[in-house]
Amino acid sequence: MKHFLQLRDLDRGEFEHLFSRTRIIKDRFKNYIAYQPLADRMLAMVFEKSSTRTRVSFEAGIHQLGGSSIVLNTGETQLGRGEPIEDVARVISRMVDIVMIRTFEHSIIERFAAQSRVPVVNGLTNDYHPCQVLADLYTYLEHRGSFAGATVAWIGDGNNMCNTWIQAAEIFDFKLNVCTPGAYGVQGARAAGVDRRHLEIFSRPAQAVAGAHLVTTDVWTSMGFEAEAGARLEAFDGFTVDAALMRLARPEALFMHCLPAHRGEEVTTDVLESAQSVVWDEAENRLHVQKALMEYLLLGKIDT
Ligand code: CP
Ligand code: NVA
Repeated sequence: MKHFLQLRDLDRGEFEHLFSRTRIIKDRFKNYIAYQPLADRMLAMVFEKSSTRTRVSFEAGIHQLGGSSIVLNTGETQLGRGEPIEDVARVISRMVDIVMIRTFEHSIIERFAAQSRVPVVNGLTNDYHPCQVLADLYTYLEHRGSFAGATVAWIGDGNNMCNTWIQAAEIFDFKLNVCTPGAYGVQGARAAGVDRRHLEIFSRPAQAVAGAHLVTTDVWTSMGFEAEAGARLEAFDGFTVDAALMRLARPEALFMHCLPAHRGEEVTTDVLESAQSVVWDEAENRLHVQKALMEYLLLGKIDT
């Protein structure tokens, strides 16, 4: 049994399988061809934070694959009244076939997974957002075909998305240029041991985007950090991805953002709505890659 708690839980060969299955599953969906290998399977989704894309893509995805889902919002469950996560894991995983969790500290999902009888998928923690980067990687491949020789620029907060992109750079062997305000940088432990071919830290956004094939950013204040929002607005001054910054990247550079976006903060409206922006493809691809992921975690490498 496998969990997907962070990107590096799977290897390159497994990702290549997932991407090839995503192509098939997406093609069937677009052609209205029913594909229901997960009939009678049940997905439980535990949300300790808000969500639009994650909830809709997992819920639609499991239904399209023939299965069903249950949504558990913390406040409406015994988790919200202090039931230990280990007990919740032991109970839920006796009743359903796969669990997705969105929570705060990454240790919470690790504790859940340690007690779970069924695969656990990370729908976002403070440290990682692997389903989103899975969709982003697939989107890049759809548009550009390969990561060979690619440079990706991450501008903004050294957050869960940034941490996950660092793992992606190592797995897919591309270069990640990261530029964050000093106090909001990548934690030393995450950068330690990552080869300079895969991760380089810059102090100015213009340096980080120079020659990039993809520019990506995210909100300056992630869920759970709302108390810091005022201080962050000041600290991130100068880190907005605008048209002038995009012009320093390669002319054909793509722009990505996991959404929701705060127009006028981390990205300007014109960049978000530009021809270079593939944010809506990224959002849609959450559905397709997660269907391939659930199929793989429940059925293994199939080729039907
Ligand atoms: N990108 C993403 O995970 O969006 P939601 O917070 O809406 O799920
Ligand atoms: N970094 C953001 C991503 C939201 C999908 C957050 O954690 O709030």
